[in-house]
Amino acid sequence: MLPRLVVVSNRVSLPRKGVVAGGLAVALFEALEKQGGLWFGWSGEVAAEAAGPPRQVRRGPVTIVTTDFSRADYQDFYSGYSNSSLWPLFHYRLGLMEVSRRSLEGYLRVNAAFAAALAPMLRPDDLVWVHDYHLIPLGEELRRLGIANPIGFFLHTPFPVPDMLVALPGHRRLVRAMASYDLVGFQTPDDVRAFLGYVAGEARGEVAPDGSFTAFGRTSRARAYPIGIDAAGFAALAVSHADTAETRRLKASMRGRRLILGVDRLDYSKGLPQRFDAVECLIETRPEVKGTFEFMQIAAPSREDVARYRALKRQLESAAGRINGRFAEFDWQPVRYLNKSYDRATLAGFYRAACVGLVTPLRDGMNLVAKEYVAAQNPEDPGVLVLSRFAGAARELEVGALVVNPYDLDEVADALARALSMPREQRVQRWRAMMEMVEANTVARWRDRFLADLGRLPAGLELDYGQRMAVRPAARSSAASTSASVSSSDRTMPPAAPGP
Ligand code: UDP
Ligand code: G6P
Repeated sequence: MLPRLVVVSNRVSLPRKGVVAGGLAVALFEALEKQGGLWFGWSGEVAAEAAGPPRQVRRGPVTIVTTDFSRADYQDFYSGYSNSSLWPLFHYRLGLMEVSRRSLEGYLRVNAAFAAALAPMLRPDDLVWVHDYHLIPLGEELRRLGIANPIGFFLHTPFPVPDMLVALPGHRRLVRAMASYDLVGFQTPDDVRAFLGYVAGEARGEVAPDGSFTAFGRTSRARAYPIGIDAAGFAALAVSHADTAETRRLKASMRGRRLILGVDRLDYSKGLPQRFDAVECLIETRPEVKGTFEFMQIAAPSREDVARYRALKRQLESAAGRINGRFAEFDWQPVRYLNKSYDRATLAGFYRAACVGLVTPLRDGMNLVAKEYVAAQNPEDPGVLVLSRFAGAARELEVGALVVNPYDLDEVADALARALSMPREQRVQRWRAMMEMVEANTVARWRDRFLADLGRLPAGLELDYGQRMAVRPAARSSAASTSASVSSSDRTMPPAAPGP
C-alpha cells in the first residue's frame, strides 16, 4: 500500500472559504487532490478565547484538519515572527525586518502546539511534508515527540544568502531546525546554494556535491524542486473562461486597446510601486503609446494587520491616482487599480485577454502567476510575458520571457514597449519555449520528485506517487542512485547546486 501523505502548512485551502490568494495553498491542493491524504494547518480563524480542539473537513479525497489561533498566536506567530521577521528577511528586505523576543516565543509556541496536535494523528508509515517559513521548527518538535517517520520540508520563498541570514537573531537555531528534516527542498538552485553556503561557512558543516550535508550532528540533503502548476488543467480553464460574461465585459471595456495585466497579492515583495513607476516612465518617454493600452493591476488584499502592508496599499492608491491624474484623457485612463481578489478561473480568462503579463517582483520564491499567464495563452496569438530576473520562475521562463530588472524603470518601460509591438511570429516562438517549460515542470512533477527523494530514505518503503517516479525498493540514497535520479528527473532544471 502507498504511504499516506501528510502535508502541514500554515495556510490551507478550505472548501467554501472563498478565494485564497497565494501560491502555496493553490499548489498544495493540486498536489493532494489526486491521491488524497491529510492536510493540517491553520483554520484562518482567530478564536476570541482559547482555541478549541482541531476540526476536520473533507475536500474530495483530502482530509483537512485545522486549528484556530488565539489572538496572541495570530499576532506573535503569524503577523509577528513569520510575516514581520522571516518574510522580509527571506525576501532580502533587511530594512523591513522586525525582531522581538515575544514574537520569537510565539513562533516557537505555535510550532510546538502544531506538533502536539499532529503527532497523535500520524501513522507509522506516513510521509510527512512540512511547508514554508512559518513551520521551520516543526520537524524538530515532532522528533522530540518521538515521531520517527520520514519528514521533509519545502521552502516556498527564497532563502537569503548567509551574509543576510546572520542578521537574524537566532539564525543558528533556525538552520539547525532545517537540518533536522530528512530532506530540505528549495525553489531554485540559488536558494540551495545560499542554504549550503550557510551550512558550510557559519555552521562549519560538511557539504557534498549532491547537496547532502552534515551539520549540527545531523545528516540531511538539500535540493531544488521548482514548483509548477497543472499546466493542462489551467490551459483548459483559460479556454473555458475566454468567453464568459466577465471576460467579455473586460474586453469590451478595453475598446480595442491592449491590456497589460498584473496579478499579485498586495505585498512589498512584488515590486508594485516600481511597476507603476515603470508604466509612468513608458508613457513619459513614448507619448505615442497613449491611448493604445491600459495597465490593469489586480492587487489581492493580504496580511492587512501588518502595518507595512497597509502603508503599501496607500502608496499604490496614490501612485494610481498620480499617473491617471497626469496622463488620463476624457476617454482614456492608463491605470486600473483593483484592490480585490478574483478566483483563478476568472483570472484565467483575464490572463488570456491580456497582451502583456507584467510580473516584476523584487524577489519571489517562484511566482505561479507567471506560469499561469503562460499556460492561459492562445497558442495561435499569445501574449508576451515581462518577467523579473528576481522571480524563481525566471530560471525556467527566461527562454521566452522579456526578462527585466524591476528596479530599472527604463528597462521595464523598454520591455513593455517591445512587448506591445512584438510581431505575432516572435510571440508564438517565445511562448512555445515557455510553455514547454511550464508543461514539463508541473505541480505533479514537483510533488513526485520531492516525495521520491523523501521516500527513498527509510529502508523498505515503496513509493509510486507519479507514473514517472517509481522508487522501489528504497535504500538510503547511494551516489549511483542519486546521479541516476538527477539525469532522469532534471530534464529542464539543473541539478541541485553544488556545495559552495
Ligand atoms: N490568486 C488568486 N486570486 C487573486 C490573486 C492571486 O487566486 O486575486 C492566485 C494566483 O492565481 C496564484 C496565487 O494566487 O495561483 C499567487 O501565487 P504566486 O506564486 O504568484 O505568489 P504568492 O502570492 O504565493 O506570493
Ligand atoms: C506566500 C507564502 C505562503 C502564503 C501565501 C499567502 O505564497 O509562501 O506561505 O500562504 O503567500 O499568504 P498568507 O499570509 O495569506 O497565507
